[in-house]
Amino acid sequence: TTAVVLVAAGAFGVFYYLARLDTAGDVDFAAKMAVPPLAPSTTDADGTRTFDLGIQAGETRFLDGPATRTWGVNGSFLGPTIRAKKGEKVAFNVRNGLSEATSLHWHGMHLPADMDGGPHQTVEPGATWRPKWTVSQQAATLWYHPHLHGKTANHVYRGVSGMVVLDDERTAGLDLPGEYGVDDLPMIVQDRAFDGDNQFDEAVPLMSTGGVVGDEILVNGTRGPYVDVSTRLVRLRLLNASNARLYNFGFSDDRPFQLIGTDGGLLPKPWETTRLQLSSGERAEVVVAFSPGETVDLRSYPSGSGFNDRLGGSSDRLDLVRFRAGGDLRDETEVPQNLGTAPDLASTEIAQTRSFELNSRTINGATMDMNRIDFGVRVGSTEVWEVVNTNGYMHNFHVHDVQFQVLDVDGRQPPPHLGGWKDTVQLDPDRKYRLAMKFSDFTDPDVPYMYHCHLMLHEDEGMMGQFVVLREGEQVGHVTGHQHR
Ligand code: C2O
Ligand code: CU
Repeated sequence: TTAVVLVAAGAFGVFYYLARLDTAGDVDFAAKMAVPPLAPSTTDADGTRTFDLGIQAGETRFLDGPATRTWGVNGSFLGPTIRAKKGEKVAFNVRNGLSEATSLHWHGMHLPADMDGGPHQTVEPGATWRPKWTVSQQAATLWYHPHLHGKTANHVYRGVSGMVVLDDERTAGLDLPGEYGVDDLPMIVQDRAFDGDNQFDEAVPLMSTGGVVGDEILVNGTRGPYVDVSTRLVRLRLLNASNARLYNFGFSDDRPFQLIGTDGGLLPKPWETTRLQLSSGERAEVVVAFSPGETVDLRSYPSGSGFNDRLGGSSDRLDLVRFRAGGDLRDETEVPQNLGTAPDLASTEIAQTRSFELNSRTINGATMDMNRIDFGVRVGSTEVWEVVNTNGYMHNFHVHDVQFQVLDVDGRQPPPHLGGWKDTVQLDPDRKYRLAMKFSDFTDPDVPYMYHCHLMLHEDEGMMGQFVVLREGEQVGHVTGHQHR
């Protein structure tokens, strides 16, 4: 009888495992995909556009049964999309309505270090932080999220994140799909695990190398969403706002789509592909074509790298969004062959080359120290940062203040999806990524910018360093206490 019981238990185990494999990520696409509203703003006499952002706690219904306790910006989960143009002066009232300190970082934005919203720009409970700057970079899809040291993973997981869409004249003049929420869709992609009470499960799985990973996927906070399509071409602004999970995007019928932009803006030319990987923090703009009346799903496919396995979540196929094309599709846009300008740092004089080795929770053997400035860079100079993940599992690399050019990967020309401006790059183990970046302005010897792994647990556990941008002849200063608001 013992043998029978063991065999039965074994068979049940296999059955259970297969059943789980089969259903992981299966959704019924019954909910209309939420589209974050555009953040309202007021413009004063000198042209400054001011946005009010209130970080708050609330409740959100993702599943049948009890609502989930969540955080959001001007709402209960996620936040509105900030939209501004190159050349515009923007200002924010960031009010912390939580009962603990947080911060709000503008990921991908070129701006003064004390406006960056990193770990030194803490916003205390009840306080309002008022950053402002002039948008000086090209059109791009950026995002915002908390960056309090040691708390980033937790605060993002609870729901504080939103998209930033920057426009410029050149991009506005292109015939790309561009009607927000109609044929230009923000897509904030996040994974979550729920406990038996429908609350976010924040426990890091025992064997996980990357932090919390869930098998339920939310797009703009909607689980199992559909989108009704009314145009032939649709532009998707994909943002991996997950704590750790890697997505390998593709359509259910393997149709090709055009990658038109990466973190820092449009690619010089569109690139046609059937799969696209984004790690935590990365963005991509893609254009996909639909035929009248058809239904097709956007999914995440196994990446082949096995990274998600070692993060601890399912690495099986995950269903993300169902697109339902109408019977009659408007067809007024195109994908121009010439989009943006190519990164041009390859032939610039390089003032300094630096090496960064990522391993475990360290960069060059050190963990983050809020009071240590790792180095200073010279304003106006171009540097090459050589970055290697010597760890065997997943890391990526993000630099504040700048967009960089991936010069080469192990000496080879970067793949097309790394051919444009980037601020975050996934690091395949043991490959050398050479990143060129120019520090054009905004000096401050005492207020650092960050560079770090964007797997948020790794960042929280110290896989981060700090640099300052210096004027000619200036020395690295001292972190003069954090700026609490
Ligand atoms: Cu998206 Cu330093 O962060
Ligand atoms: Cu990492």
